[in-house]
Parts: sequence; C-alpha cells; structure tokens
Amino acid sequence: MDIDLSGRVAIVTGSARGIGRSIAHTLAQHGARVAVADIDLETAANVAQEITDTGREAISVQVDVTDSTSVQAMVNQCLADWGTVDILVNNAGIATTHMVEDMSEANWRRVIDVNLTGPFLCCKAVLPVMRSNGYGKIVNISSVASKRISYNAGANYTASKEGLLGFTRHLAYELASYGINVNTVCPGPTLTPMMSEVATPETLRAREKSVPRGRLSTPEEQANAVLFLVSGLADHIFGVALDVDGGALLGWYDVETYRVRRRQP
Ligand SMILES: NC(=O)c1ccc[n+]([C@@H]2O[C@H](COP(=O)([O-])OP(=O)(O)OC[C@H]3O[C@@H](n4cnc5c(N)ncnc54)[C@H](O)[C@@H]3O)[C@@H](O)[C@H]2O)c1
Repeated sequence: MDIDLSGRVAIVTGSARGIGRSIAHTLAQHGARVAVADIDLETAANVAQEITDTGREAISVQVDVTDSTSVQAMVNQCLADWGTVDILVNNAGIATTHMVEDMSEANWRRVIDVNLTGPFLCCKAVLPVMRSNGYGKIVNISSVASKRISYNAGANYTASKEGLLGFTRHLAYELASYGINVNTVCPGPTLTPMMSEVATPETLRAREKSVPRGRLSTPEEQANAVLFLVSGLADHIFGVALDVDGGALLGWYDVETYRVRRRQP
C-alpha cells in the first residue's frame, strides 16, 4: 500500500543517526518535507543532504530538546521555511548504564530531561500550529524497556520510557478531538550507534537469543511503524504503544532454553 505524505511537514528529533535518521529518510521517501533536528548539527546536515540528494526536501536544524528556547527556534524555522508543522517524531534519546547505587542525581536528571521532558517541550511547541490546522501526528519513541526493564541502560532510562507512555496516553486523550493523533513506538533492541555504545558483543548475543524472530531489529523496521502511525491508515488510533521487537516482549527468557525445556530441536 502506498502511503503519500506529500505536502506534509515533519520534524524528527535526534535524526542525525540511528533510528531517527531512518525515520527521516522514510518520511521523506514518502513525500514529506523533513526537518532533520539534532543536537549534532554537522551530522544532521549530512543527513539532510542525503535526503535532498534523492530529490526530496529536507533541512537540518540544531536543537537541544531539553531547552525550550532551542525547541521553539526549531519550530519557528520550520514555520519560516514551510509555513506549518504536521508531524512530530520525538525520537531523540540517551542511555547510560549505571546501577542505581552508582547513579548520580545529575545523571538521573539528564536522562529524564532528554527522554521525557524533551518530548513534552517539543509537543508544547507544535501544539498551537497543529490545533489551528485541526491536524497533527505525533509519535513518541519509547522502548520495550517501558514495559519491562532496560537490559543495557539504567533505571533512569526505564523510568523515562515508561513515563513517555503515560504522557502519550494522556496527551492523546486531550488532543483527539482536535484531529491530532499521539502514539508511541516501542523499539526492541535495534542496531544503532546508541546500541553499539552501551552493549558488548556478549550482551548483543544474549539479546538476539531473547528475540523469537532470531535477530535484532533494524532502524528501518522502526521507521516503518512510525510511517504507519503518521499516515491516514492510523487516523483512528490514539495513545497506543506499538511494540516493534521481533516478539521479544512475549517471553522472559531465551528461545533456545524454551525449546530445550520442551525437548524440541
Ligand atoms: N537502539 C535501540 O536498541 C533502542 C531500543 C529502544 C528504544 N530506542 C530509542 O530510540 C531512540 C533513538 O535511539 P538510537 O538507538 O537511534 O540512538 P542514537 O544514540 O544512535 O541516536 C540518538 C540521536 O539523538 C540525538 N540527541 C541526543 N540528545 C539530544 C538532545 N538533547 N537534543 C537533540 N538531539 C539529541 C543524538 O545526537 C543522536 O543523533 C531513542 O529515544 C532511544 O531511547 C532505541
């Protein structure tokens, strides 16, 4: 089925690399004009260039999602260039690996700030334009950690991602009557720079074993779920948390052990 986002303007935060980069490419391939927004402007500019090289429209914007002034400037730039914002994907996120007993207050606050307060600030900044358009699609990128615990990152990450589910549900309820859909994608372990930074070869192999499909997710598989949620196919969907994880959340130990316990090859 062909999804046509022609004429739509999308902001994707944290899209200089990883899942966000893939989301930016996918939305652009389907016709959206995409603001590649990231704290790392140089890499964001490369991604915007990759998109414009394919004949699609993109701009790069430097944003720190924890800073309301910076977030407002990002939205203002889209309004100045393209006159509107139709789609917001809150993808920027960070992960650190401390045990709680070793976690500083500053570390706790930083992860909550980027992963939870960031989406709040970005949503607030786009709401006036989405409300006046009577149209908007917001997708927040949470994690399977929101429903269990994070395997690689710390308790602050798990708390931020579960908080994002609650924020999504509540905002979806508040905005449904204005023609604005707010939903969440919960990626399972996905091969990205973030994953390479926090995982070791051993933990990656352990994660693979816990995925019934037998491999980690790709950024493109996450982007396809976002594409669906920002399309007209999802107009009647509000406040869901869509797991994109190869079945990882279905079980709680590795698939091999499950089979051995049932004496199957
Ligand atoms: N990779 C996984 O396995 C996985 C699993 C579940 C959820 N997620 C979530 O998916 C999202 C993307 O993850 P990824 O693996 O692609 O990460 P990544 O680290 O590869 O990319 C994240 C991007 O966010 C940007 N960023 C960080 N702080 C920012 C800030 N304050 N303001 C603006 N941009 C900022 C970074 O510069 C980077 O380009 C994150 O929210 C992450 O928590 C990832």
